[in-house]
Amino acid sequence: MRSHVFRPLWVVLGLLALFLAVRALYVPGDFGVHRGDYTYGWYRTGNEDDWKAVEVKHKGKDYCAGCHHDNYTKIAASKHARIQCENCHGPARNHPGDPPKLAVNRERDLCLRCHADLPYRPKVYTGLPAGPIPLKVQNPEVHNPGLPCVTCHNVHTAGWK
Ligand code: HEC
Ligand code: HEC
Ligand code: HEC
Ligand code: HEC
Repeated sequence: MRSHVFRPLWVVLGLLALFLAVRALYVPGDFGVHRGDYTYGWYRTGNEDDWKAVEVKHKGKDYCAGCHHDNYTKIAASKHARIQCENCHGPARNHPGDPPKLAVNRERDLCLRCHADLPYRPKVYTGLPAGPIPLKVQNPEVHNPGLPCVTCHNVHTAGWK
């Protein structure tokens, strides 16, 4: 056969060799087809240990019940029942070991994150799976500006002080 036929063949074989060499260099040794319960079963076995080592930051409100019984029962009976403690107090991590205390934020911004009257959000907030929530909102410039909301409102009962 004439060389003009072979030339592109060498180019293709060269590219294939280059691809295999780069693949051998960059794809980790434990990558391959493993158990079939992920899509196509393609993954790195080492990735399982990577995920096991990820620190769980949020513990969920039942974790707080034993030690903060009062706040736990109050909020469970309130209109704030569906909100996780850690939504306002931050991730518990290994509290009360580390950190020994969680943050208590008394700024207006904490409440206005949900209660600000925004022009582009419906007054009846329908974003959550439990159905429409009649979330009452306030215009922060009119509703007692300058005073922390917790001066008058009790956050754990979603009522008054
Ligand atoms: C094993 C018991 C224990 C558990 C579980 C626990 N806490 Fe605490 N928490 C404590 C102790 C002890 C303190 C320190 C109290 C102090 O110094 O006044 C504290 C302090 C706090 C504070 C600061 C109170 C203040 O007056 O500054 C907050 C907020 C808090 N915890 C929230 C939580 C939340 C939310 C959870 C659940 C995610 C939780 N805690 C789980 C024992 C616990
Ligand atoms: C919607 C936000 C929000 C949620 C949800 C919330 N907190 Fe609080 N928490 C606050 C604010 C704000 C304060 C300060 C209240 C004040 O000074 O009147 C506070 C104060 C506290 C304190 C210190 C003062 C006290 O009352 O003893 C603890 C402890 C606490 N919260 C625990 C919890 C626990 C446990 C949960 C869940 C069961 C929870 N909080 C849920 C916002 C929240
Ligand atoms: C993560 C969102 C969120 C945050 C943060 C939050 N709230 Fe709420 N709050 C809600 C929702 C949702 C409801 C209404 C639940 C319902 O009616 O079922 C509610 C209800 C209330 C109510 C009762 C209103 C009524 O319908 O009678 C008061 C008062 C209130 N919140 C005050 C506060 C204050 C004060 C803060 C800050 C310390 C705060 N909230 C922080 C979501 C939030
Ligand atoms: C000086 C006291 C005071 C402060 C500070 C205050 N409020 Fe109020 N809030 C009231 C009173 C009184 C009402 C009932 C009358 C009204 O709707 O204005 C009310 C009503 C509400 C309601 C509707 C509750 C219902 O049952 O209808 C929400 C939600 C609310 N406030 C959230 C907030 C938020 C969020 C902040 C902080 C940004 C805040 N408030 C600051 C006194 C206060």
